[in-house]
Amino acid sequence: MKSKLFSPITFRNIELKNRVVMAPMCMYACDTEDGIVQDFHITHYESRAAGQVGLIMLEATAVQPEGRISTKDLGIWDDKHLPGLKKINERIHAHRAKSSIQLAHAGRKAQLPNQIVSPSALAFDETYQTPKEISSEQIEETIQAFQKAAVRARHADFDIIELHAAHGYLINQFLSPLTNKREDRYGGTRENRYRFLRDIIEAVKQVWNGPLFVRISADEYHQDGNTLADFIYFSEQMKQQGIDLIDCSTGGVVKAKIQAYPGYQVPKAEAIRNQVNIATGAVGLITTGIQAEEILQNDRADLIFLARALLRNPYWPKVAAEELNDELPAPTAYQRGWV
Ligand SMILES: Cc1cc2nc3c(=O)[nH]c(=O)nc-3n(C[C@H](O)[C@H](O)[C@H](O)COP(=O)(O)O)c2cc1C
Repeated sequence: MKSKLFSPITFRNIELKNRVVMAPMCMYACDTEDGIVQDFHITHYESRAAGQVGLIMLEATAVQPEGRISTKDLGIWDDKHLPGLKKINERIHAHRAKSSIQLAHAGRKAQLPNQIVSPSALAFDETYQTPKEISSEQIEETIQAFQKAAVRARHADFDIIELHAAHGYLINQFLSPLTNKREDRYGGTRENRYRFLRDIIEAVKQVWNGPLFVRISADEYHQDGNTLADFIYFSEQMKQQGIDLIDCSTGGVVKAKIQAYPGYQVPKAEAIRNQVNIATGAVGLITTGIQAEEILQNDRADLIFLARALLRNPYWPKVAAEELNDELPAPTAYQRGWV
């Protein structure tokens, strides 16, 4: 029987040949410190596409230079970034994989020499700068920056966009009551804390009609943080706004000790999928084909995101297909080694 992991799935106009996703992973490899794609990035992403991953998602890519985590992040804040991004897509598409970009702004988690911003003037910890409270004008500019980045993503031939609303970065800083102490219409109630993400989704949708995913941190590991009920509320809003998939990660909002074990975040993807009736992505210590197949067959998630397992082995799909007694077509040039 054909496995679910290696069955195609469609989001709007885009068919993925299987459900293996390369999770976004910052490489901090932009040695020129201007956000421009380097040879390394092309090799890195093409290798996983050659390994038959269905969807390659590029790392957190900054929509504004001040929204980078480090000076070595990839960027999409300027047209100068387009040729490199286009080249990556050309190489991904050559292997019949689809491509996605994670649009990001680090907010208070930016480790840059310039002034950083956040919904409230609270530092992540003593090793980070204290951010300046972001002004209404800057909020508007940032929403515009996400929109312009989405236009560039279209020009660069990406198939899917993911908004990074997880791991304590800027959008997440608005969503969480731990980091958002504002008293204007962007803070306070959960309706207000959702407004920044709502505005970004609306702005992006004006210029992008392909699949749109959002990554959230569905557990803040803090008693005063957002609860599952809050995440269900946010997910319902995203569904109403036409989001195609919620990629369910956890943590990163405040310092916390996280006990990570195989599949530790899968229950979040499952709860949101089944309570909101929206597609979800599962991520976090998923390392075997059998584990991935269990998640899919039991309707706990729709896509399997893999990060570290794909760093170790770009040919992870081949190993997983063998485990599941499934067949995975070989890249033509590698057929003789594929038996
Ligand atoms: C090197 C590295 C860089 C990462 N960068 C990002 C990132 O840019 N955006 C993001 O949402 N998550 C990032 N993550 C988190 C992964 O996408 C993933 O959620 C996490 O590693 C758990 O999955 P795993 O157990 O398969 O590694 C990163 C993880 C690693 C190991």
